[in-house]
Amino acid sequence: MSTKPDRIIIRLEKVTRIYKVGVESIHALDGIDLQLRRNEYVAVMGPSGSGKSTLMNILGCLDRCTGGTYFLDGRDTTRLGAGGLARIRNTQIGFVFQSFELLGRSSALKNVEMPLIYSREGWWSRRKRAKKMLERVGLGDRIKHRPNQLSGGEKQRVAIARAMVCGPSILLADEPTGNLDSKTSEGILALFDQLHSEGQTIILVTHEESVARHASRIIRMTDGRIFSDMSFEQDRANRASLNGRFGEMSK
Ligand SMILES: Nc1ncnc2c1ncn2[C@@H]1O[C@H](COP(=O)(O)OP(=O)(O)OP(=O)(O)O)[C@@H](O)[C@H]1O
Ligand SMILES: [Mg+2]
Repeated sequence: MSTKPDRIIIRLEKVTRIYKVGVESIHALDGIDLQLRRNEYVAVMGPSGSGKSTLMNILGCLDRCTGGTYFLDGRDTTRLGAGGLARIRNTQIGFVFQSFELLGRSSALKNVEMPLIYSREGWWSRRKRAKKMLERVGLGDRIKHRPNQLSGGEKQRVAIARAMVCGPSILLADEPTGNLDSKTSEGILALFDQLHSEGQTIILVTHEESVARHASRIIRMTDGRIFSDMSFEQDRANRASLNGRFGEMSK
């Protein structure tokens, strides 16, 4: 497998996701075309209900599109069965959620070890790997703590360690700082920055410009579509000019 930084790792072609609720069809994703390169750091933004989580769930193979094609690392995931998708989730995807989603009764170490159960490694080597990952996220002294014995920021660090322990091709984070105060959020974002500088591809959903500024590319969605996709600098200039125009109109 090539590790060239410009290699395309994600390619979506005309991806749709229609939810059927009773007689109603909700077009949560309405024809998404998207390409992402290895080692990109992308922020997905947009109003509530615009399809951000639906997109993340499809990218993370937690859900399937109802139309179009999703290539992950050159592989057409839409052709895979449940087993194939589960393998991809376990080996290539790391997912971090707003609400941490940790196993409440298990220690930090057990939580991080969990995805390694499906690997062929022996328990000692799994344990060593999980411990190392917890040290990497700054929690070497919290490995025996259960989630209710950890702060919000620490819980999210455990979740990040769990997402990273299998060495995923992409790290997906759906509003990872949504439940954290601004200082704790900065710590989590510094950790993402560090992982990105070490080569990790990251896609993060956020409502906050202060979070999005850590990414180098901003994708804005509305009504299940991508309406802008540009570098952070272009996006900022674009917003500034729009604000200027609206400012003048309201004078
Ligand atoms: N399981 C589901 N069944 C039916 N409709 C759904 C389901 N999940 C999401 N939707 C609908 O799909 C659309 C997109 O939802 P999605 O959760 O992707 O939005 P979002 O951009 O993540 O919003 P938020 O910022 O509030 O998290 C919404 O109209 C939502 O009501
Ligand atoms: Mg969402």
